[in-house]
Amino acid sequence: MNLAVIGSGGREHAICYKLKHSSKINKLICIPGNAGTQKIAENIKEDISNFGNLYQIIKKYSVDLVIIGPEQPLVEGLVDYLNEKKVRVFGPDKFASQLEGSKAFMKNLCKKNSIPTADFGVFNNFDDASSFIKKNGAPIVVKADGLAAGKGVSVCTSIEEAVKNTKEILDGKFKSSHQVVLEEFLKGEELSYFTIVDENSYLFFGSAQDHKRVGEGDTGPNTGGMGAYSPAPLLTDKLEAKIKKKIIEPTLKAMKNLGHPYKGFLYAGLMINKGEPYLIEYNIRMGDPECQVLMMRLETDLLEIIDHATRNKINNLKIEWTKKSSITIVLCAKGYPSNYIKDSEIKNLPNVLTDKNNQIFHAGTYEKNNKTYSSGGRVLNITSLSESLTEARNKSLANIDKINWPDGFFRKDIGWRVINNK
Ligand code: AMP
Ligand code: GLY
Repeated sequence: MNLAVIGSGGREHAICYKLKHSSKINKLICIPGNAGTQKIAENIKEDISNFGNLYQIIKKYSVDLVIIGPEQPLVEGLVDYLNEKKVRVFGPDKFASQLEGSKAFMKNLCKKNSIPTADFGVFNNFDDASSFIKKNGAPIVVKADGLAAGKGVSVCTSIEEAVKNTKEILDGKFKSSHQVVLEEFLKGEELSYFTIVDENSYLFFGSAQDHKRVGEGDTGPNTGGMGAYSPAPLLTDKLEAKIKKKIIEPTLKAMKNLGHPYKGFLYAGLMINKGEPYLIEYNIRMGDPECQVLMMRLETDLLEIIDHATRNKINNLKIEWTKKSSITIVLCAKGYPSNYIKDSEIKNLPNVLTDKNNQIFHAGTYEKNNKTYSSGGRVLNITSLSESLTEARNKSLANIDKINWPDGFFRKDIGWRVINNK
């Protein structure tokens, strides 16, 4: 089969890496890709919002199946567009993509279907929003309704901060959002729970925990993710049964009833408090960097899995995972998540041995004259698989040591909640 993967992050590099293991693969292209995907696929530069141009590439390369990594093209309706053109594609349609694309849509769906989530209000009027904040008090969580690349959420510890952030959102800080969602602050520990869904059924697709804050000890501003590990020790069989029954299944049933059965990866961001799961958010795609650790642990052929899902036959498969632990540490450009250094050369990358237990998944990188340069905030994902999480982290840290990049930084404490440092 000829495959096209859309996207350019560590997630897409990890997906390409895993797809390359399949015996069924003929040609693999990545649009637009990065310096890592370039080594295992053909990168084709294109604006992924330009559906017409994407279609031309798909025709030119006789692509049999398209896999969409990031949320933006899904929310913009790439699946609907390709379906109309009779191109086989894996991912949710535009309507179903509102589960991530509109927090108001997701929260209202939860309310109607009694799915456990934080209490909330949706506002487009500043006075109403500010009375809600004053009535409920702090801490309170302020969210832009639409996509905001992980920057639209603030956990506010004072009423003043919440009012200020609400005003900024309603004044148009994020182009995608004209509404604000105000939420009760949920206590507990976060868990990322993944499923792969087709029109008939769904299967568990791994658990992970990520670190969203930029600083060690989970401090400082939110980022796209500074590192992740899998499996999540927090996930017990008892908790999983609750997640399926109270959250995943009612959601899939509701989407079916709305006439848009969900198809694709579905990633539930959960807060676990006293053994009970609460939905914080849905993502309509794999997580980044969670995908990187999951691909290291996946033992079943990824192409086989996605092929089955697009034919609504996922239930015929058993997806196997190694019990080993995987960790990824994200190497970022100094300044991230604010203004960061760009076009900085990263040296000594070939010094890092890569094999089935050690991988460097590229994110914001490009190659020029055989040299690797940074182009984004999150640049490399140093990923390891080992018998224990402690060993995996030590391997990733040792691999980072071999890279010479003074303009980069990373968190040394990924996995701190479960790694005993004694
Ligand atoms: P989201 O983009 O909705 O996942 O939010 C980003 C991060 O903000 C989450 O991973 C949580 O750490 C935090 N967060 C979001 N909503 C809540 C909430 N209601 N209570 C506590 N923390 C939250
Ligand atoms: N790691 C968080 C996300 O992919 O949304």
